[in-house]
Amino acid sequence: MFALNKISLKGFRCYSDASFSFSNNNKIIFCGRNASGKTSLVEAIHYLAFAKSFKTSKDEDLIANLNNPTSTMYIKGEFNNSTVTEIGYDGVNKLIKTNGKKVKSISSMVGYFMIGLFCPEDLLLAKGDPKNRRRYIDLSLCQVDKEYMKALQVNKSALKERNEYLKTLDCDATKLNQTYLDAITKTYIDSCEIIEKKRAKFIEEINTISKQVVSQISDEKDSINLSFISNVNVDNFWITYKDKIMHDLYAKTTTWGPQRDDILIEINNHNAAASASQGQIRTACISLKLAVVEYFKKITQNIIIILDDVFSELDEIRQNKILDFFDNNYQVFITTTNINLLTKNALKNSEIIEITRGE
Ligand SMILES: Nc1ncnc2c1ncn2[C@@H]1O[C@H](COP(=O)(O)OP(=O)(O)OP(=O)(O)O)[C@@H](O)[C@H]1O
Ligand SMILES: [Mg+2]
Repeated sequence: MFALNKISLKGFRCYSDASFSFSNNNKIIFCGRNASGKTSLVEAIHYLAFAKSFKTSKDEDLIANLNNPTSTMYIKGEFNNSTVTEIGYDGVNKLIKTNGKKVKSISSMVGYFMIGLFCPEDLLLAKGDPKNRRRYIDLSLCQVDKEYMKALQVNKSALKERNEYLKTLDCDATKLNQTYLDAITKTYIDSCEIIEKKRAKFIEEINTISKQVVSQISDEKDSINLSFISNVNVDNFWITYKDKIMHDLYAKTTTWGPQRDDILIEINNHNAAASASQGQIRTACISLKLAVVEYFKKITQNIIIILDDVFSELDEIRQNKILDFFDNNYQVFITTTNINLLTKNALKNSEIIEITRGE
């Protein structure tokens, strides 16, 4: 079993200087009151995998903003295969080291180990804002695909540049410099092509896996179907660009591309958001997340599972089904405010660590 043995945090979220060592037990339970620092701790574990938070896209948010302000944050993870990963960030630059050696770029971290994350927001996956579904795709694909991670970074800055230019036009077509817009749109489109292709393929694979997962965990014998929804002409993005140019001009923003993608989730052939029951939605959301872990398993066994505050929301049957899925083969971090909300199964082979603020 691949495992994290120790994590040290300096200037990260509510931790000024703390470290935690973990036993060989496959379940590590962080128990503490609200705002004691449980999510921050699992966020740091997640950050060790590919230098991305699951809570914020702004790394500045991670730097501790305490009485004794530090302007840098530092995380060190020691794994049971003797690998040591260190990440430092001073608000501008990120310094990443593996076994003391500087890592060239964040994308070179990709693939060392993967995180199967479950958090309360995931229970909105099948119903809420499409943003959650895009984040689901991104947090999954960035862990396995360097090219995807790079394309996403390029796309974000190209989109920003394009939107800034569209704003300056102020709905006035006579101000439009077509050559300039073509030039900045090229970088945008090049990255869109990579992202859209990889997203479509990912959803296709997750669709196949989800069907197996749902039949395994659903008592109601529900069926699930996922379809990737994109508003671009995937065969030729320049057609979409030309089609939407006036639309973009008047909207003063880019109205097409990955930032508008979505996943249509159907349960028993009906749009889940519109007609599924709460229980079915929950099962679908959990299945989508379990499917990602299954997807990772095809690539590596170096997987760590994080269950942040999810068990308190789930009944005993669902808790056990999730745990059964990991089959004691993976290190699982569980956070809870109340140990009594966990099933016997969750407590078996577990180490309980009390989290108190400012430790
Ligand atoms: N950059 C930061 N600097 C200092 N404190 C922060 C920073 N970011 C978050 N915090 C604080 O850290 C505390 C711990 O938050 P965290 O989300 O880890 O708590 P938690 O134990 O998961 O709580 P809950 O049970 O409510 O989920 C909160 O009070 C939060 O406001
Ligand atoms: Mg929390």
